[in-house]
Amino acid sequence: MKLKKWSVYITRKILDPAIPLISKDCSVIVANHRGRPPSTSELLKAVRGKDAILCTISDKIDTKVMDAAGSNLKVISSYSTGVDHIDIKEATKRGIYVTFTGDILTEATADLAFALILAISRRINLGHELVTHKRWKNGWDPHLLLGSDVHGMIIGILGLGRIGSAVARRAKGFDMNIIYHNDHGRNIQMEEQTGVKYVSMNELIEKSDYLSIHCSLNKESYHLINESNLRRMKKDSYIINTARGQIINEAHLIKALRKRWIAGAGLDVFEKEPLSPNSPLLKMKNVVLLPHIGSATFLTRTKMAEVAAKNLLNVLNEKMPIYLANPQVDVKQLAHE
Ligand code: DGY
Repeated sequence: MKLKKWSVYITRKILDPAIPLISKDCSVIVANHRGRPPSTSELLKAVRGKDAILCTISDKIDTKVMDAAGSNLKVISSYSTGVDHIDIKEATKRGIYVTFTGDILTEATADLAFALILAISRRINLGHELVTHKRWKNGWDPHLLLGSDVHGMIIGILGLGRIGSAVARRAKGFDMNIIYHNDHGRNIQMEEQTGVKYVSMNELIEKSDYLSIHCSLNKESYHLINESNLRRMKKDSYIINTARGQIINEAHLIKALRKRWIAGAGLDVFEKEPLSPNSPLLKMKNVVLLPHIGSATFLTRTKMAEVAAKNLLNVLNEKMPIYLANPQVDVKQLAHE
């Protein structure tokens, strides 16, 4: 039997072609914890001596994990676009390449953000429940499930990067007025292409009918949406989050929804995932809640699997990965294709 050159730990079973691709050249261990991610102790044990780790956003890859892996570790390939679960600084210091799946999930996530906008404004979950729970008694009803318009309303995009821009393009098709705020300044190209208007954070908060969050999670954006912002939003506005749960202070959001400072929320992400069975959000009617499925289409996840595998294999073969999250690491050792 031919001895494989590298050993790789994959923290979850993911879609083809990732595992078969990697298995051609590497000895691979795929975690099998009946669908759940490995616990910290399982992770620390499993990474020992590995050349590469393929992880997901559920795995916290910090100093301890890198220490446990040891000096063989060359690449951490994340099956995700966000890399806030990885200590990038520490990886860079150790010369470990951190790769991600770039803009592959952009359109799927923008579709889901729009699905949430439509669902929360038109009360689609409540309508579905009424029909399927056999509580729809009177046929057409002049007052049944009245919601809010989407067309003609103001959408405020917090973070006009790749996904924010894809949401803006969809909003244009829905005849919405689009305003945005970026921490790192204006996106002139998008302004010219779609007529989006740059506003201050305060204006974004105060003017949006739909505030859709698309910035990445970092020290600056952690709990950026808090009680003081929520109190200043329009009473009939909605908040949509398909980015990261920690950007919103969830306890403050719950208060805002209870006290009707805002009309509702469409959430695909939460401060802690899975959402606690005791979360007050579960009892609220003015929310649509999804289990972090922004990128969850067959095509998108298949492409993500392929790219995550290629990123990992490229680095092991001393080639530039497709998407590198820490270009500060010494890339001179990698050949550009
Ligand atoms: C990501 O990739 O960052 C998503 O949140 C999970 O697919």
